Amino acid sequence: MKRIQYHQYGGPEVMRLEDFEPAPLGPDEVLVRVRAAAANPMDFGIRAGRMKYVTGRRFPRAMGYDFAGVVEAVGDRVTRLHVGDEVLGGTPIKSAGAFADVVVAQEKGVVRKPGNLSFEDAAAIPTVGITALQALITKGRLQPGQAVFVHSCLGGVGRSAVQIALAHQAMVAGSCRGSARSEARGLGMDPVVDFDFDPASLAGGFDLVLVTAGTLPVKAARTMLKPGGRIISILPTPANLARSVLPGPFQVMTARPVTKDLEEVARAAGRGTLRLPITRTVPLSQAIPALTELEQKNGTAKRGKLIITPN
Ligand SMILES: NC(=O)c1ccc[n+]([C@@H]2O[C@H](COP(=O)([O-])OP(=O)(O)OC[C@H]3O[C@@H](n4cnc5c(N)ncnc54)[C@H](OP(=O)(O)O)[C@@H]3O)[C@@H](O)[C@H]2O)c1
Repeated sequence: MKRIQYHQYGGPEVMRLEDFEPAPLGPDEVLVRVRAAAANPMDFGIRAGRMKYVTGRRFPRAMGYDFAGVVEAVGDRVTRLHVGDEVLGGTPIKSAGAFADVVVAQEKGVVRKPGNLSFEDAAAIPTVGITALQALITKGRLQPGQAVFVHSCLGGVGRSAVQIALAHQAMVAGSCRGSARSEARGLGMDPVVDFDFDPASLAGGFDLVLVTAGTLPVKAARTMLKPGGRIISILPTPANLARSVLPGPFQVMTARPVTKDLEEVARAAGRGTLRLPITRTVPLSQAIPALTELEQKNGTAKRGKLIITPN
């Protein structure tokens, strides 16, 4: 078996494609033959050591969280999933390992894949879909007919949020790179503004402001709220975490592996109301250069998912 792993925290140069033996399955775990895996910004941040307090200092550490594939074995307490099921899901942050021939995940982080969804489209959605759903609905308590502003609306989480909010009968506006405004309008949003928009031009218009990337000062986001509105950020920076405990409309959210949420995301993808564009698909043997290129595109347009398939 092969997987992408690293023996020390660091930049793209620490990634290696190496042989490994999957650990014996725990009672609540499943072993999945990976048919497609998808990259997320957290793959790079965690490999760089930004979550050492969770991921620890034992090496080698595997890479990759989001995957779709076929169940090969199940632990003693697993009841919902069976050998042969086509599934999608995410691994725990601590173990990772989706950029591989096989991956071990907790049953609660894995759900059945809709039959009409390709493995590639399925792998693209777990992290971004569940984050958008929990930010909008669980934390943001968005109701049909309400108005939401998605700051950075064409990233993985932003685009998922736009689609989920529209399917929830909300009115959706957002910001993106100026050159991508017509693409954003094509999703059904109005208005669409540049990243450096003037918040005063949207004063008092929104029940929910969702910050998915970049920076939107809380003061600016507050200007945009209707009375009683909420600001949710998915960026757990020290400053945001500190602000989040203060009274007021601002909260930071970290996505959690809730099975029913992942099932809802999978159903939306099966219905065709949640789709992420795939910009590149590479085999595992060519994934390290592709991941390196994606990571180094920092600050330039990198919309769409990188998918890694078996060799
Ligand atoms: N809290 C959680 O549980 C959680 C979960 C998932 C992700 N996240 C975090 O959320 C962030 C977004 O994740 P993602 O998967 O959506 O990433 P992504 O797909 O890489 O999207 C990032 C987006 O940011 C946009 N961007 C670039 N410069 C910007 C600026 N100055 N202002 C606003 N936006 C700008 C990019 O636009 P262009 O395409 O035009 O360059 C891109 O669309 C990442 O930091 C990730 O680590 C947090």
